[in-house]
Amino acid sequence: MKDFKKFEKIFDEYVDRFLNNDNIDEERKINFINKKLHSYRVRDNILQIAKEENLKLDMFIVEFIGLFHDIGRFYQYEKYETFNDAYSENHAKLSIKVLEDEGIIKLIDYEARPYIVDSILMHNMQDLPKIEDRKMYLYSALLRDADKLDGFKLIAESDSNNKKLAYYKNKSDEPIISDYVYNSIMNNKTVYKYDLKTILESQIVTLGYISCDINFDSTLKIIKENEYTKKMFEKMQDTPRAREIYDFVNNYINRRLEK
Ligand SMILES: [Fe+2]
Repeated sequence: MKDFKKFEKIFDEYVDRFLNNDNIDEERKINFINKKLHSYRVRDNILQIAKEENLKLDMFIVEFIGLFHDIGRFYQYEKYETFNDAYSENHAKLSIKVLEDEGIIKLIDYEARPYIVDSILMHNMQDLPKIEDRKMYLYSALLRDADKLDGFKLIAESDSNNKKLAYYKNKSDEPIISDYVYNSIMNNKTVYKYDLKTILESQIVTLGYISCDINFDSTLKIIKENEYTKKMFEKMQDTPRAREIYDFVNNYINRRLEK
């Protein structure tokens, strides 16, 4: 069993470089700290889902991709002041660049590296591509579920009036869900998330991930136990479309867990 503490230290030291930058402003600080906390929660989530699914995988890889999947986010926000890839760079590619430039990937067994690199590169794709290699599929699917779980928590617990949070920055308060977003979700299709205009739309797209892009039943169980759909909906503007999507997602969870 490899000692993961060593990798936590590497992660923390890398992130501290951004946090200890003399020129840091309040907004960057909040978003750096949030990304650090997000990374640790995704690490916890991915370990939990992998255990509950009883998957025979290398738990070091599982833990590593959980903690390091967004390591490129710090450079991204420092440089561009956004987490929106469309207005900056693909942050998964940035994460791989950091792992290479910092010599972190070299600390990993050679055979494990493709699973780490590819699962991180696929974590922010709109849809997970068809993957023949069963293990590669599992690592990638786990990471996407673990990441999304923390997205649900974020919506459920954060204040949508806080414009310092990158998630809500530059988005309007209009209670609008476009036809494209509404139709995609109601047809269990993923949505291109980088040009959403309203806070409500962003929230509803995150809620809609549940019925189009959750891979494991264990993830759905965690969503249900934590009442994430209810808590997310409570943070949204109550419109007929939002309510319809909310019911649709709840029905989806119940149907899948009944099987
Ligand atoms: Fe990410």
